[in-house]
Amino acid sequence: MGFLKEFAESGNLTTIPSNYIFCTSTGDDDDDQVVAEAEEVIPTIDFSLLKSGTPEQRSSTIRDLGKACQEWGFFMVVNHGVPETLREEMLRGCQSFFDLTEEEKQEYAGKHVLDPIRCGTSFNTSVEKVLFWRDFLKVFVHPQFHSPDKPPEFREISLEYCKRTREVARELLRGISQSLGLEEWYMDTTLQLESGFQILIANIYPRCPQPQLTMGLPCHSDHGLLTLLIQNHVDGLQVQHKGKWVHVNALPNSFLVNTGDHIEIVSNGKYKSVLHRVVVNNNATRISLALAHGPFLETVVTPAAHLVDCENHPPAYRGIKYKEYIQLQQSNQLDGKSCLDRV
Ligand code: SIN
Ligand code: FE2
Repeated sequence: MGFLKEFAESGNLTTIPSNYIFCTSTGDDDDDQVVAEAEEVIPTIDFSLLKSGTPEQRSSTIRDLGKACQEWGFFMVVNHGVPETLREEMLRGCQSFFDLTEEEKQEYAGKHVLDPIRCGTSFNTSVEKVLFWRDFLKVFVHPQFHSPDKPPEFREISLEYCKRTREVARELLRGISQSLGLEEWYMDTTLQLESGFQILIANIYPRCPQPQLTMGLPCHSDHGLLTLLIQNHVDGLQVQHKGKWVHVNALPNSFLVNTGDHIEIVSNGKYKSVLHRVVVNNNATRISLALAHGPFLETVVTPAAHLVDCENHPPAYRGIKYKEYIQLQQSNQLDGKSCLDRV
């Protein structure tokens, strides 16, 4: 297996191989319409007000969080307290990982979705399949911490970054629980977040000579609860909102946060997991780093009893063990939310 990065950087590519050509439109006119963010303002959450604001500020931030989850499933978090230097170091660590030789990266080319360290690409896996313009590194970092040994600084920076990000995610989930009218610690306790599953996903999207013909990542939802993402100042993420694709222009020093399928399940469908995708460009390589936060792997997740009443809000999803859900989702093609087991 080769990596896309080496191929894309290997010379003066002017066209992309035909198996990277991906048609996004399903024929429905509105389906692939992209709108600039200026037309639809993405919600921003001031984390400092949630964590250490007055009771009024906290309540109003919780209301904003609820609105963002219900209307978008996506928001940007500012004043989160994770130092900019740590975020920059972490992104540099990801770049250094992707800069390793193919042989060095090959050591981490795990096969199974539950391998704790796995890097790869869709390049060359099968000639007939449509491929995406991206290489990735996935590492399970909680409840058990794993790290590649190279580059040497990766482990220490990643340990600190994952811990700090996990704290932000758990605080957001407490706010989201309250926004649903649940007790603050509802998700923390019921989903056993002390042992919650956290995955680090680093992505590299090399410059692409024909960006409009391919995709970095196709439309999908994330399986967990909340994903917190940072990037190297190159945009590319788009989220689906009111049937259109909104291009995300990241605020400096913010986390880009999206809801996952398990928020949809716990909230009994009140909050939906957001569909998102990544487009590529011809000017600059994009690096993004997503930390996905889910329940404890052995937890069977069901809609919160408080949000179910048989007359108006019957349970919309069947309970499923989180680990089984991941296996099911990862064994399917990325295509929206086909794994949610609706009642
Ligand atoms: C992802 O959806 O997993 C990655 C998103 C991104 O690279 O912005
Ligand atoms: Fe995603």
